[in-house]
Amino acid sequence: MKFTMNEIQQLKARVEEIKTQKMESGDELLMALHTAQELFNNSIPIKAAEVISEVLKVKMNRVYELATFYSMYSTRPRGKHLIRFCESLPCHVVGGREVTEALKKILGVKVGETTKDGLFTLETSSCLGLCGVGPVMMIDGEAYGNLTPDRVKEIIDSYRGEK
Ligand code: FES
Repeated sequence: MKFTMNEIQQLKARVEEIKTQKMESGDELLMALHTAQELFNNSIPIKAAEVISEVLKVKMNRVYELATFYSMYSTRPRGKHLIRFCESLPCHVVGGREVTEALKKILGVKVGETTKDGLFTLETSSCLGLCGVGPVMMIDGEAYGNLTPDRVKEIIDSYRGEK
């Protein structure tokens, strides 16, 4: 994964800011990992983990333990926009499968893959807590419900238009 020294410096500054907030150790580590993902296209490169480890004075194995335990984090490169599609039963029975197939076709990827232009990574998730408006997906944390294949295309096109 490519990144600039400026991005590394930004991460360092933001993690130092997190450190001044005097949170519990685990909380500040989670905040730092979240910040790294914001800066590095939804993933945590090893250099970012090293910065977090150094600034928070936490061993690298602890940083990696959390970065690899929680599915919301990833140490492998992902796209600029992270799509999480709910695959739990309530969404599935109201058309989730058709919408997932449409998403894969529109993006030209399988679940777990990133589009060739690096814009989107498609992942699945268990219940996103919005079962009443299923099928549901989140893009970069923003929820979209009552999805249909046509609606999904409109949403993806709107993200492509912002390039
Ligand atoms: S089952 Fe899909 S949001 Fe709850």
